[in-house]
Amino acid sequence: MNQFTCLEDVPDPQALLDKALQWKQNPLAAADSAKGKTLVMVFFNPSLRTRLSTEKAAQNLGFSVMTFEASQGWQLEMEDQIVMNTDKAEHIREAAAVISQYADVIGVRSFPSLDDREKDYQDYILGRFVEYAQVPVISLESAIRHPLQSLTDWMTIKEHQKQARPKVVLSWAPHPKALPQAVANSFVEWMQVADVDLVVTHPEGYELAPDFRQNVRQEYDQQKAFEGADFVYTKNWSAYSDYGQKPTVKKDWMISLEKMAWTNEAKFMHCLPVRRNVVVADAVLDSPQSIVIQQAGNRTFAAQAVLHELIKNKV
Ligand code: CP
Repeated sequence: MNQFTCLEDVPDPQALLDKALQWKQNPLAAADSAKGKTLVMVFFNPSLRTRLSTEKAAQNLGFSVMTFEASQGWQLEMEDQIVMNTDKAEHIREAAAVISQYADVIGVRSFPSLDDREKDYQDYILGRFVEYAQVPVISLESAIRHPLQSLTDWMTIKEHQKQARPKVVLSWAPHPKALPQAVANSFVEWMQVADVDLVVTHPEGYELAPDFRQNVRQEYDQQKAFEGADFVYTKNWSAYSDYGQKPTVKKDWMISLEKMAWTNEAKFMHCLPVRRNVVVADAVLDSPQSIVIQQAGNRTFAAQAVLHELIKNKV
Protein backbone atom coordinates (compact mmCIF):
# COMPACT_ATOMS: atom_id res chain seq x y z
CA MET A 1 0.00 0.00 0.00
CA ASN A 2 1.53 3.35 -1.06
CA GLN A 3 -1.04 5.78 0.35
CA PHE A 4 -4.40 5.71 2.17
CA THR A 5 -6.89 8.17 0.75
CA CYS A 6 -9.76 5.88 -0.34
CA LEU A 7 -10.76 2.23 -0.63
CA GLU A 8 -9.07 1.97 -4.03
CA ASP A 9 -5.66 2.53 -2.41
CA VAL A 10 -6.01 -0.70 -0.43
CA PRO A 11 -4.90 -3.83 -2.34
CA ASP A 12 -6.69 -6.21 0.07
CA PRO A 13 -9.32 -4.49 2.27
CA GLN A 14 -10.29 -7.73 4.05
CA ALA A 15 -6.65 -8.33 5.03
CA LEU A 16 -6.41 -4.75 6.35
CA LEU A 17 -9.56 -5.32 8.44
CA ASP A 18 -8.09 -8.54 9.84
CA LYS A 19 -4.89 -6.67 10.70
CA ALA A 20 -6.86 -3.99 12.57
CA LEU A 21 -8.62 -6.69 14.61
CA GLN A 22 -5.25 -8.34 15.33
CA TRP A 23 -3.64 -5.07 16.48
CA LYS A 24 -6.49 -4.68 18.94
CA GLN A 25 -5.53 -8.02 20.55
CA ASN A 26 -1.92 -6.93 20.98
CA PRO A 27 -1.30 -3.25 20.23
CA LEU A 28 2.38 -3.45 21.22
CA ALA A 29 3.19 -6.57 19.20
CA ALA A 30 5.60 -4.57 16.99
CA ALA A 31 6.36 -1.64 19.25
CA ASP A 32 9.66 -0.84 17.54
CA SER A 33 8.61 -1.38 13.92
CA ALA A 34 8.53 2.37 13.23
CA LYS A 35 11.39 3.34 15.54
CA GLY A 36 13.23 6.30 14.03
CA LYS A 37 10.29 7.13 11.76
CA THR A 38 8.13 10.23 11.99
CA LEU A 39 4.45 10.84 11.33
CA VAL A 40 3.60 14.47 10.57
CA MET A 41 -0.10 15.29 10.80
CA VAL A 42 -1.36 18.47 9.12
CA PHE A 43 -4.73 19.73 10.31
CA PHE A 44 -6.64 22.35 8.33
CA ASN A 45 -9.67 21.56 10.54
CA PRO A 46 -10.10 20.52 14.17
CA SER A 47 -10.21 16.95 15.41
CA LEU A 48 -10.46 15.06 18.68
CA ARG A 49 -10.70 11.36 17.71
CA THR A 50 -8.65 11.29 14.52
CA ARG A 51 -5.83 13.27 16.03
CA LEU A 52 -5.55 11.35 19.28
CA SER A 53 -6.23 7.85 17.92
CA THR A 54 -3.78 8.23 15.03
CA GLU A 55 -1.15 9.58 17.41
CA LYS A 56 -1.78 6.67 19.78
CA ALA A 57 -1.58 4.19 16.89
CA ALA A 58 1.69 5.73 15.75
CA GLN A 59 3.13 5.58 19.27
CA ASN A 60 2.16 1.89 19.51
CA LEU A 61 4.41 1.27 16.49
CA GLY A 62 7.30 3.43 17.71
CA PHE A 63 6.74 6.50 15.48
CA SER A 64 7.58 10.01 16.63
CA VAL A 65 4.61 12.26 15.92
CA MET A 66 4.55 15.93 14.98
CA THR A 67 1.33 17.88 14.45
CA PHE A 68 1.03 21.05 12.39
CA GLU A 69 -2.07 23.23 12.76
CA ALA A 70 -2.41 24.58 9.24
CA SER A 71 -5.60 26.43 10.17
CA GLN A 72 -3.85 28.90 12.47
CA GLY A 73 -1.82 31.71 10.99
CA TRP A 74 -0.01 29.75 8.28
CA GLN A 75 -1.91 30.02 5.02
CA LEU A 76 -0.86 27.68 2.20
CA GLU A 77 -1.34 28.65 -1.43
CA MET A 78 -2.78 25.73 -3.38
CA GLU A 79 -3.15 27.30 -6.84
CA ASP A 80 -0.49 27.15 -9.53
CA GLN A 81 0.76 30.04 -11.65
CA ILE A 82 -0.40 32.62 -9.17
CA VAL A 83 1.18 35.84 -7.97
CA MET A 84 1.54 35.26 -4.23
CA ASN A 85 0.99 38.81 -3.07
CA THR A 86 -1.88 38.07 -0.63
CA ASP A 87 -1.86 36.61 2.90
CA LYS A 88 -0.75 33.13 1.83
CA ALA A 89 2.83 32.67 2.96
CA GLU A 90 3.87 29.42 1.32
CA HIS A 91 3.01 27.31 -1.71
CA ILE A 92 1.89 23.70 -1.36
CA ARG A 93 4.68 22.65 -3.75
CA GLU A 94 7.36 23.70 -1.27
CA ALA A 95 5.34 22.93 1.87
CA ALA A 96 4.56 19.29 0.98
CA ALA A 97 8.11 18.68 -0.24
CA VAL A 98 9.60 20.25 2.89
CA ILE A 99 7.32 18.32 5.28
CA SER A 100 8.52 15.20 3.44
CA GLN A 101 12.08 15.99 4.59
CA TYR A 102 10.93 15.49 8.19
CA ALA A 103 8.23 12.86 7.75
CA ASP A 104 8.04 9.21 6.73
CA VAL A 105 4.24 9.47 6.53
CA ILE A 106 2.10 12.61 6.21
CA GLY A 107 -1.50 12.73 7.45
CA VAL A 108 -3.80 15.48 6.17
CA ARG A 109 -7.21 16.63 7.42
CA SER A 110 -9.01 19.02 5.12
CA PHE A 111 -12.77 19.60 5.05
CA PRO A 112 -14.72 20.72 1.97
CA SER A 113 -15.62 24.32 1.21
CA LEU A 114 -19.25 23.22 0.68
CA ASP A 115 -19.59 26.00 -1.90
CA ASP A 116 -17.43 24.74 -4.80
CA ARG A 117 -18.68 21.25 -5.55
CA GLU A 118 -16.34 20.66 -8.45
CA LYS A 119 -13.23 21.47 -6.45
CA ASP A 120 -14.41 19.64 -3.33
CA TYR A 121 -15.18 16.50 -5.34
CA GLN A 122 -11.71 16.63 -6.93
CA ASP A 123 -10.54 16.27 -3.32
CA TYR A 124 -8.41 19.26 -4.13
CA ILE A 125 -6.30 19.89 -1.01
CA LEU A 126 -5.61 16.22 -0.25
CA GLY A 127 -4.79 15.76 -3.93
CA ARG A 128 -2.27 18.60 -3.85
CA PHE A 129 -0.49 16.96 -0.90
CA VAL A 130 -0.43 13.60 -2.68
CA GLU A 131 0.97 15.34 -5.76
CA TYR A 132 3.84 17.12 -4.01
CA ALA A 133 4.63 14.94 -0.99
CA GLN A 134 7.60 12.61 -1.34
CA VAL A 135 6.34 10.14 1.26
CA PRO A 136 3.02 8.25 1.69
CA VAL A 137 -0.04 10.36 2.52
CA ILE A 138 -2.92 9.31 4.79
CA SER A 139 -6.30 11.01 4.71
CA LEU A 140 -7.33 12.12 8.18
CA GLU A 141 -10.68 13.06 6.56
CA SER A 142 -10.76 14.89 3.27
CA ALA A 143 -13.39 16.90 1.45
CA ILE A 144 -15.22 13.78 0.30
CA ARG A 145 -14.00 10.76 2.25
CA HIS A 146 -13.03 9.62 5.75
CA PRO A 147 -11.44 6.20 5.18
CA LEU A 148 -9.88 5.78 8.65
CA GLN A 149 -13.40 6.20 10.07
CA SER A 150 -14.86 3.71 7.59
CA LEU A 151 -12.28 1.02 8.28
CA THR A 152 -13.07 1.51 11.97
CA ASP A 153 -16.79 1.26 11.30
CA TRP A 154 -16.36 -1.99 9.39
CA MET A 155 -14.22 -3.35 12.24
CA THR A 156 -16.86 -2.38 14.82
CA ILE A 157 -19.66 -4.01 12.81
CA LYS A 158 -17.55 -7.17 12.46
CA GLU A 159 -17.05 -7.32 16.24
CA HIS A 160 -20.74 -6.85 17.09
CA GLN A 161 -22.53 -8.70 14.28
CA LYS A 162 -24.63 -11.73 15.22
CA GLN A 163 -25.78 -12.60 11.71
CA ALA A 164 -23.52 -13.77 8.87
CA ARG A 165 -24.84 -10.91 6.71
CA PRO A 166 -26.24 -8.15 8.94
CA LYS A 167 -28.62 -5.46 7.75
CA VAL A 168 -26.84 -2.12 8.09
CA VAL A 169 -28.80 1.13 7.74
CA LEU A 170 -27.09 4.46 7.15
CA SER A 171 -29.62 7.04 8.32
CA TRP A 172 -29.46 10.77 7.79
CA ALA A 173 -30.36 12.81 10.90
CA PRO A 174 -30.86 16.52 11.51
CA HIS A 175 -28.11 18.98 12.44
CA PRO A 176 -28.11 22.74 12.92
CA LYS A 177 -25.12 23.21 10.57
CA ALA A 178 -24.44 22.18 6.98
CA LEU A 179 -21.97 19.29 7.31
CA PRO A 180 -19.70 17.52 4.81
CA GLN A 181 -20.75 14.34 3.01
CA ALA A 182 -17.39 12.63 3.65
CA VAL A 183 -18.36 10.18 6.39
CA ALA A 184 -21.48 9.01 4.55
CA ASN A 185 -19.66 8.74 1.20
CA SER A 186 -16.84 6.74 2.70
CA PHE A 187 -19.11 4.50 4.77
CA VAL A 188 -21.07 3.56 1.66
CA GLU A 189 -17.82 3.00 -0.28
CA TRP A 190 -16.38 0.63 2.33
CA MET A 191 -19.64 -1.24 2.93
CA GLN A 192 -19.40 -2.35 -0.71
CA VAL A 193 -16.59 -4.73 0.28
CA ALA A 194 -18.17 -5.77 3.60
CA ASP A 195 -20.61 -8.66 3.55
CA VAL A 196 -23.62 -6.63 4.68
CA ASP A 197 -27.10 -5.74 3.44
CA LEU A 198 -26.77 -1.94 3.18
CA VAL A 199 -29.69 0.50 3.01
CA VAL A 200 -29.28 4.28 2.97
CA THR A 201 -32.21 6.35 4.23
CA HIS A 202 -32.57 10.12 4.06
CA PRO A 203 -35.14 12.78 3.19
CA GLU A 204 -35.61 13.79 -0.44
CA GLY A 205 -32.94 16.25 -1.51
CA TYR A 206 -30.17 14.57 0.48
CA GLU A 207 -29.16 11.96 -2.13
CA LEU A 208 -25.43 11.22 -2.06
CA ALA A 209 -23.19 11.98 -5.04
CA PRO A 210 -23.86 9.67 -8.01
CA ASP A 211 -20.45 7.96 -7.70
CA PHE A 212 -21.23 6.98 -4.13
CA ARG A 213 -24.90 6.06 -4.40
CA GLN A 214 -24.65 3.77 -7.40
CA ASN A 215 -25.39 0.12 -6.49
CA VAL A 216 -26.73 1.25 -3.10
CA ARG A 217 -30.31 0.62 -1.95
CA GLN A 218 -31.91 3.96 -1.10
CA GLU A 219 -35.10 4.30 0.95
CA TYR A 220 -36.89 7.58 1.69
CA ASP A 221 -39.10 5.96 4.35
CA GLN A 222 -37.01 5.79 7.54
CA GLN A 223 -39.33 3.27 9.21
CA LYS A 224 -39.20 0.90 6.25
CA ALA A 225 -35.42 1.16 6.19
CA PHE A 226 -35.11 0.45 9.92
CA GLU A 227 -37.26 -2.69 9.85
CA GLY A 228 -35.04 -5.71 10.59
CA ALA A 229 -31.88 -3.57 10.88
CA ASP A 230 -28.99 -4.99 12.90
CA PHE A 231 -27.01 -1.72 12.85
CA VAL A 232 -28.21 1.86 12.60
CA TYR A 233 -25.35 4.13 11.55
CA THR A 234 -26.45 7.74 11.86
CA LYS A 235 -24.88 10.82 10.32
CA ASN A 236 -25.97 14.20 9.08
CA TRP A 237 -24.79 15.45 5.73
CA SER A 238 -25.66 18.45 3.57
CA ALA A 239 -27.14 18.16 0.09
CA TYR A 240 -25.05 17.16 -2.91
CA SER A 241 -27.47 18.32 -5.60
CA ASP A 242 -28.19 21.73 -4.04
CA TYR A 243 -24.60 21.68 -2.99
CA GLY A 244 -23.80 22.34 0.66
CA GLN A 245 -27.38 23.45 1.41
CA LYS A 246 -29.87 22.13 3.96
CA PRO A 247 -33.15 21.52 2.14
CA THR A 248 -36.14 21.76 4.48
CA VAL A 249 -37.18 18.50 6.09
CA LYS A 250 -40.75 18.24 7.33
CA LYS A 251 -40.64 14.88 9.15
CA ASP A 252 -38.76 14.11 12.35
CA TRP A 253 -35.54 12.24 11.46
CA MET A 254 -33.89 12.28 14.90
CA ILE A 255 -33.06 8.79 16.18
CA SER A 256 -35.24 7.90 19.17
CA LEU A 257 -35.92 4.76 21.22
CA GLU A 258 -39.26 4.47 19.42
CA LYS A 259 -37.45 4.29 16.08
CA MET A 260 -34.84 1.85 17.39
CA ALA A 261 -37.80 -0.39 18.35
CA TRP A 262 -38.52 -0.81 14.59
CA THR A 263 -35.17 -2.62 14.25
CA ASN A 264 -33.84 -6.05 15.10
CA GLU A 265 -32.45 -4.70 18.42
CA ALA A 266 -29.95 -2.81 16.30
CA LYS A 267 -26.71 -1.42 17.59
CA PHE A 268 -26.51 2.37 17.30
CA MET A 269 -23.38 3.79 15.67
CA HIS A 270 -22.12 7.32 15.01
CA CYS A 271 -18.63 8.58 14.16
CA LEU A 272 -18.89 11.37 16.79
CA PRO A 273 -18.99 14.19 17.67
CA VAL A 274 -22.76 13.99 17.96
CA ARG A 275 -25.38 16.58 18.95
CA ARG A 276 -27.52 15.08 21.70
CA ASN A 277 -31.29 15.40 21.24
CA VAL A 278 -30.79 16.83 17.75
CA VAL A 279 -29.22 13.89 15.93
CA VAL A 280 -30.06 11.24 18.53
CA ALA A 281 -32.01 11.14 21.78
CA ASP A 282 -30.15 10.76 25.08
CA ALA A 283 -32.14 7.58 25.69
CA VAL A 284 -30.53 5.91 22.64
CA LEU A 285 -27.03 7.25 23.14
CA ASP A 286 -27.02 6.21 26.80
CA SER A 287 -28.58 2.79 26.17
CA PRO A 288 -26.74 -0.55 25.83
CA GLN A 289 -27.67 -0.46 22.14
CA SER A 290 -25.20 2.38 21.57
CA ILE A 291 -21.67 1.29 20.67
CA VAL A 292 -20.31 4.76 19.81
CA ILE A 293 -17.58 4.66 22.47
CA GLN A 294 -16.35 1.22 21.42
CA GLN A 295 -16.45 2.53 17.84
CA ALA A 296 -14.27 5.52 18.77
CA GLY A 297 -11.93 3.19 20.65
CA ASN A 298 -11.40 1.15 17.49
CA ARG A 299 -10.05 4.22 15.67
CA THR A 300 -6.62 3.46 17.15
CA PHE A 301 -6.42 -0.04 15.69
CA ALA A 302 -7.66 0.93 12.23
CA ALA A 303 -5.03 3.68 12.12
CA GLN A 304 -2.38 1.28 13.43
CA ALA A 305 -3.18 -1.22 10.66
CA VAL A 306 -2.89 1.50 8.03
CA LEU A 307 0.34 3.03 9.39
CA HIS A 308 1.98 -0.37 9.67
CA GLU A 309 1.03 -1.31 6.11
CA LEU A 310 2.59 1.91 4.83
CA ILE A 311 5.95 1.42 6.50
CA LYS A 312 6.34 -2.35 6.91
CA ASN A 313 8.50 -2.87 3.82
CA LYS A 314 10.49 0.34 4.23
CA VAL A 315 13.87 0.15 5.93
N1 CP B 1 -15.01 10.97 13.88
C1 CP B 1 -14.00 11.88 13.76
O1 CP B 1 -13.29 11.94 12.74
O2 CP B 1 -13.85 12.67 14.85
P1 CP B 1 -12.89 13.95 14.93
O3 CP B 1 -13.45 14.99 14.00
O4 CP B 1 -12.91 14.36 16.37
O5 CP B 1 -11.52 13.52 14.46
